[in-house]
This record gives sequence, structure tokens and C-alpha cells, in this order.
Amino acid sequence: MELLKRLCEAHGVPGREEAVRALVLSELEQLCDEIRTDALGNVIAFKRGSGHGPKVMLAAHMDEIGFLVSHVDEKSGFVRIDPVGGFDPRVLMAQRVVVHTESGDLLGIIGSKPPHILSEEERKKPVEFKDLFIDLGLPADEVKKRVRIGDFVTLQQDFAEIGHLVSCKALDDRVGVYVMIEAVRRAKKHVCDIYAVATTQEEVGVRGARVSSFNIAPDIGVALDVTVASDVPGVGEHEHVTKLGAGVAIKIKDSLSISNPKLVRAMRQIAEHKNIKYQMEILPRGGTDAGAIQLTREGVATITLSIPTRYLHSVVEAAHKDDIHAAIDLLAAFLESAHEVDYSL
Ligand code: CO
Ligand code: ZN
Repeated sequence: MELLKRLCEAHGVPGREEAVRALVLSELEQLCDEIRTDALGNVIAFKRGSGHGPKVMLAAHMDEIGFLVSHVDEKSGFVRIDPVGGFDPRVLMAQRVVVHTESGDLLGIIGSKPPHILSEEERKKPVEFKDLFIDLGLPADEVKKRVRIGDFVTLQQDFAEIGHLVSCKALDDRVGVYVMIEAVRRAKKHVCDIYAVATTQEEVGVRGARVSSFNIAPDIGVALDVTVASDVPGVGEHEHVTKLGAGVAIKIKDSLSISNPKLVRAMRQIAEHKNIKYQMEILPRGGTDAGAIQLTREGVATITLSIPTRYLHSVVEAAHKDDIHAAIDLLAAFLESAHEVDYSL
């Protein structure tokens, strides 16, 4: 879990994944035959198979939701931000942030009015993104000198193990990157060619997956990403989507893709055969890199393996260790048997 901690605590919003990329490169380099990056910053690691198997593309995204500096107040030095990816404004109040400037990182606070001076009306109003500002604790002159429009901002949060869970910011999708790396490490004998891709700009519309998939022209695409686990108080069982601790989720459908039904069946059979805990997933809203891979060239057979995660798109995203291990087990087993899988429709 040491690698997962380092991945989660690294910072990188869509288009600014460089710190995460450096980490991923150093890990995948040791495991693969060839490795390169492309114009959008995707890391493409190739591991040759032992025979004439299909080309299998794995995809897990490196970017995390965050912000870009959009304005610095002339007089006060308070910083305004523009979102890259969808944070819920309710979870942003009272957080610490990091403003990544050319001359180094600055710690900041997302401030707000204290309850003491809120009017009755203000108290009832939901938090809106436009009301948020960052306090850097510095005079306006100094802020203007150090912070530029376009500098990126991420939330500050330490990785923690809580009971059987791991919790951090950016578990979406560093846990997917972790699962991909560990499964490639685990898969010993594989006939298929493996392209392990750590993608960029997923949170703003699966952009990195689109171009890397065009280049690779895979036969099979497997995205690794988090999914909703709303198995919490106040939510009916029919709305849980997935449950923590109930195993890796085999995705049937989300709003960007419908998984190849034969790949769904193959994943389920492998899980049953190897005694890997799994659950089936239908996600009403949201998508993964599989949505872009599926529509590449003349179409690609795709599926997503999901890691059930509570409190998505907040700084306390939480996943169960057993589910993470189940995802690694299932992906590694799939890679070892992908050459036997019929995915033709
Ligand atoms: Co996300
Ligand atoms: Zn994601």
C-alpha cells in the first residue's frame, strides 16, 4: 500500500499530471519491454506476450479533480479558482489546498464567513462555487508576484488507513493506477500483448484515453476506475450501486459505455473459477476511459473493472483493501487467460 499512498499524495489536475507521471514511469519501466509518453502526456507501457494473443489495452487515469487559478484580487490577494473536474462545492468549504506555482508550492485555505455573521437567509443557502476563495496568508503584492493565472490547485490530504479502508483525496483514480501496475507485476505467463496506459485528462472528458487508444488500436480495452459505493445511512439498498468489501465490481453499463457482454461473462467466470470476490455494477451516471476506447477506429471490445469507493469526489474517498486486492487478482488472471477469451459479437 506504500505505492498507493505515494500515488494518492502526488498532485496532478487534468493536463498537469507530471508529478504522477514521473511516479508511474519509474514503476512501469521496471515491468515492461518498452515505455513512452505521447503528446497528451499519457504513459504507454508495452509488455510483450508469449504468442499470438489479442492486444489488450489497460487504462487508468492519472489526473485528479482540482482547479486553476483564475483571478488574484488586486487589493486583498485572495485567489479565485476555476474547476477542472467536478468537485461538489459542499465538500470544499474549510479545506486546505496547495497552489502549485512556478517557484514552488504554497499552502492555502478555502475560507468562508463564520456562522456568527451569517444572516438567516445566508445560512439556508447552499454553498456555491462562485462564493469560494483561497487565502494564502500573504500580502497582495507577494501573492501577485508568486501566483499566476493558470497555476493549478489541488486539495491537501494525507493518506490514511481507517479500519479495513484506505482513505485519501484522488483515490479516483490513483487506486486504478495502482491496480493496473500491481496486476502487470503479477501477471507472469501471458500470451496477449499488454499495453498498460496511465491516461491523462479523464475528468474533463476521457481525452487521454481517446488518443492513446487510437495509437495502440487494441483488440480489447479494460479500464480500471473507481465507482460509486453509496452503502451508507439514508440510502436505499437499490441505490447502493456497489458495496464496500463485496469485491471488485464488473461493470455492465455506465453512461459512457456498455461493456462487451462476452467480456462481462469471461470476467465473471474467471472470478468464480479463481474464487475472487466480485459484484456486478450498473452505474446510472458517470463514465470511464472505456467510453473513449470503445469508440476508437472501428470499435473496440471494452469493459471496466471498478473499485467500489465511498464519498467520491471528496477528500475522504474511501475504498476497502479486500476490494483493491480482488481487483488486482481478477485483472492479473484475466491477462493470463485473455488469449482464450471469445469477445466477438
Ligand atoms: Co472522477
Ligand atoms: Zn475516475
